[in-house]
This record gives sequence, C-alpha cells and structure tokens, in this order.
Amino acid sequence: MAEETQPLIAKSLPVKISSVEFVISSPNIDKCPKPIFPEYAFIGRSNVGKSSLINMLMERRHLAKTSSTPGKTQLINHFLVNKATKPWYLVDLPGFGYARVPKKIAENWMGMIKGYLANRDTLMCVLMLIDVRHAPQKNDLEFMEWMGEKGIPFVMVFTKLDKLTPAKAEEAMTTYKTEMLKVWESLPEIFVTSSANNSGREEILNFIDSVNEKY
Ligand code: GTP
Ligand code: MG
Repeated sequence: MAEETQPLIAKSLPVKISSVEFVISSPNIDKCPKPIFPEYAFIGRSNVGKSSLINMLMERRHLAKTSSTPGKTQLINHFLVNKATKPWYLVDLPGFGYARVPKKIAENWMGMIKGYLANRDTLMCVLMLIDVRHAPQKNDLEFMEWMGEKGIPFVMVFTKLDKLTPAKAEEAMTTYKTEMLKVWESLPEIFVTSSANNSGREEILNFIDSVNEKY
C-alpha cells in the first residue's frame, strides 16, 4: 500500500525570547546606547499601558516599571532582547498628556521624545498605544500626524481590551478608525492587546520578527 503523504502545513513558530535585560535610562538621544541594533519604541499617553505591554511581551512581571499613577516612566529606557542571537532593543518612553506634570516639564519630555524618535537611525517602528476605552484624543491624533510628517513608521496598538466587552471594543475601534481616515489615506497596521490576558502577544512579536528580518 502506498504510504499516505501528509500535506505540509506552514505554521509560524512562536517567536522565542531567549533573554532580555534592562540596559540604560537616558535623558536624551545623545545618552542612548550605540545605535547598532534594530529598535522598537512604545509611545502613548500616560497610563495607556506601555510598560505593562513590554512586560507582557517579554513575559517578565517587573522588567519595565508600571504604576497606576500616571507619569511613572520619565526617561528613554532601553531593553536589550536576545543579545546572544539576534539582538534588538525595546524602548519604553514616558507618556504624554499627563495633566499633573507642570507644563514646562511636559514640554521637556515631549522635546526629548520627539528628538529621540526623529533622529534615531535604528528605530524600525514606533508602537503607538491607545487605550481602547477612550474616544480619539486630540494629542494622540496630532502625535500620529507628526510621525507621518517626519516619515517615522508606526503601528497602532489598542490596549486594555479586557476592560470592554468584545462588542464595545469593536465599536470603539471602528470609531477610532473612522476618525483616523478623516486624515489618513489608509490605516497603519493595527494590533489589539491586553496585558492582563496576553492577547496580541504573538502578533506583535511576529511583526517585530518580520521587521528585524529586513534590518
Ligand atoms: P506611564 O509610564 O505613566 O506613561 O504609564 P504606562 O503607559 O507605562 O502604563 P503602565 O504600563 O504603567 O500601566 C498603567 C496602569 O494600567 C497599571 O495599573 C496597569 O496595571 C494597568 N494596565 C496596563 N495594561 C493593562 C491591560 O491590558 N489590562 C488591564 N486591565 N490593565 C492594564
Ligand atoms: Mg511606563
């Protein structure tokens, strides 16, 4: 009897995080590590869940400092991933739009963030985080427009999906996309996540992996 051949099914393997370590917190781009590895920066309003998402992706609870009080992350934080194999950086940034920070300090943070994003040669992509519960915010939309003008590649990441029912989340994201399409001809890639239940983890890691391939 002829042996039955099994059809080959291409299945993407889970991306492996062999190691991750905190490298340095920098007050500006000049103090950042040498730009020799591809890197991915996490940006968004204070409390949106940037540090939590980094911890979720890396499966480490306390790698990036999180807090229920906005304004926890105040510097440019570099984390080195897979240093023994194919190294890349994750970058945790301070949030913006935090009302309780004096205006002058908030402006300084924004200057630091924009200086870093616009001038970091190895920055492959920005992950722009948006709390799925919030209606489109002016400063988020303006920030994405600024990245567009500067030609900085970015994707959108909706966070805290566990806080809404699937139907409410779908509705909120549709509203957001409609708002974006008033300004943009097409939408960037969009990821849907919850750091509370790990959703979106494989998708984001696979995305980073595919961009790393091009580096
Ligand atoms: P800043 O550093 O202040 O800009 O904040 P951040 O964007 O780094 O937010 P952080 O990760 O510190 O999270 C803020 C709060 O939201 C914390 O209390 C987190 O536990 C909570 N949080 C973050 N992501 C999620 C999520 O996906 N689901 C739920 N339920 N809570 C989340
Ligand atoms: Mg943070």
